[in-house]
Amino acid sequence: MTSSLSKSETPSGDASNRNILATEVSRRRNFAIISHPDAGKTTLTEKLLLYGGAIQQAGAVKARGEQRKVTSDWMELEKQRGISITSTVLQFKYSNNTINLLDTPGHQDFSEDTYRTLSAADNAVMLEDAAKGLEPQTRKLFEVCRMRKIPIFTFINKMDRPCQEPLSLLDEIEAELGLSTWAVNWPIGSGEFFRGVIDRRTKEVLLFSRAERGQQASELRLNLSDPKLKELVENDALDKALEELELLEEAGSILDVELVHAGELTPVFFGSAMTNFGVRSFLDAFLEMAQQPVSRKTSQGNIDPLDPNFSGFVFKLQANMDPRHRDRVAFIRICSGCFQKDMTVHHARTGKTIRLSRPQKIFGQDRSVVDNAYPGDVIGLNNPGMFSIGDTLYTGRHIEYEGIPCFSPEIFSWLRNPNPSNFKNFRKGINQLREEGAVQVLYDVDQSKRDPILAAVGQLQLEVVQHRLENEYGVETRLEDLGFQVARWIDGGWTALEKIGRIFNCKTVKDSWSRPVLLFKNEWNLNQLVEDHPELELSSVAPVVSGVEPLRL
Ligand code: G4P
Repeated sequence: MTSSLSKSETPSGDASNRNILATEVSRRRNFAIISHPDAGKTTLTEKLLLYGGAIQQAGAVKARGEQRKVTSDWMELEKQRGISITSTVLQFKYSNNTINLLDTPGHQDFSEDTYRTLSAADNAVMLEDAAKGLEPQTRKLFEVCRMRKIPIFTFINKMDRPCQEPLSLLDEIEAELGLSTWAVNWPIGSGEFFRGVIDRRTKEVLLFSRAERGQQASELRLNLSDPKLKELVENDALDKALEELELLEEAGSILDVELVHAGELTPVFFGSAMTNFGVRSFLDAFLEMAQQPVSRKTSQGNIDPLDPNFSGFVFKLQANMDPRHRDRVAFIRICSGCFQKDMTVHHARTGKTIRLSRPQKIFGQDRSVVDNAYPGDVIGLNNPGMFSIGDTLYTGRHIEYEGIPCFSPEIFSWLRNPNPSNFKNFRKGINQLREEGAVQVLYDVDQSKRDPILAAVGQLQLEVVQHRLENEYGVETRLEDLGFQVARWIDGGWTALEKIGRIFNCKTVKDSWSRPVLLFKNEWNLNQLVEDHPELELSSVAPVVSGVEPLRL
């Protein structure tokens, strides 16, 4: 940290503390990457970290991942599956900014955590593979960004490979996501004939020269009017790019940062993460336009990050990050005030007062103790079972952040306990893991079917629950797929459901707050219900419930 508070100072203290807070907030930029597996998230992250000096060599992120598989046995499962479960928050500095990159796990480790991470992000980078355009996981994550109106910056990657027409890629974003676009740069050629990008604002051309695979491509800058350009770029390719740019200009949209911040317009950048082409200019433009930590809704109105009282909320819980100490870590997104090691805060849900004595910053498996942290930052706290997803911590007057909704699960399984003598542990495990947010628990409306239904966003979530039940609670369990893939909550609850009478091709269950949830085998069956009963208002996200005790097994 460039500036910090001394321990004797109170966070709500004097003008100089307020200045430090204002400076630190103005430097903070926090974002998450939303993408489909293979679009290049790891590659782009690595290049960004290289610029920030957080890693020294390309390949370090993957190498770190490899090493983690060996040193961590959270889990055994991680080793068995050869994947990484542990998502991290990476902090790095670049041109006087402190950047927090919140990792959004993908692939098989796609889980509700991936969605929840977006509730802690102020900005999102939507990464697309230029050959594939929008892909399913990106669409799902985009929906969550839209719910929160998060500013979205689009990076269209792999321009060094054959790709779709750039104009079609923009059209797809506009038509499918309903998000306006503004191309900040425009590609000249693609694939084998990719020659670079035209910066639309400076009218400069950033020329691409192919490098060995994995090596950094050189980036030569020339003015668009520079005669040398004609020697370096084929006329056809340049003319095509200029024509397309003219079309964009004629369309008349402008790069309005307010619209970007409202989540209505996305600045679009073309580049190639692997060859490191266009990454630095993307990072510079992103930092210029990205939203700094903004005020957030609480039960007592919006809280500004410059509010001198500390506040934050828990957006993720992670168990067994360090196998040597069966630890659990709660990740807190700081929203206002200064955080200081050893400070005493209130825990809104329980009304308890707690001392935050071992705050950590976590970079992969490496941890360091945090002395000070500011809005936009994320810290990890040891969690001896005290924190749940969405919990608020604060100093000063009582506040509670909005909470994090339950996101639409896509996998549903009965959880069977073949050994009834173990029921007590089974029950304890399920209740605790649900409270932690490891999985959603649904119940059959038929009282005679007492086994819980686990509902998850990704298959791995179920495997983790089974693994933890066995290792931490000593119960072996069996999963039995229900064969459904889509869930919807009903806005009017049981009353609305009763009004429409019997529904076909769908199963009604209740969630942990006794609300009805409809399960469908596929989207087609869901659409059929929507057509038959347009009066029914369905939601793929369950609103947050506060002040009501959930059902326990
Ligand atoms: P992910 O985290 O989004 O899943 O993607 P990741 O970065 O692992 O990239 C997926 C593959 O795409 C990798 O190739 C990576 O090298 C490649 N890639 C990423 N960005 C670019 C790009 O700009 N241009 C080209 N041509 N390829 C790119 P791989 O063969 O699966 O892995 P590796 O052999 O590179 O380790």
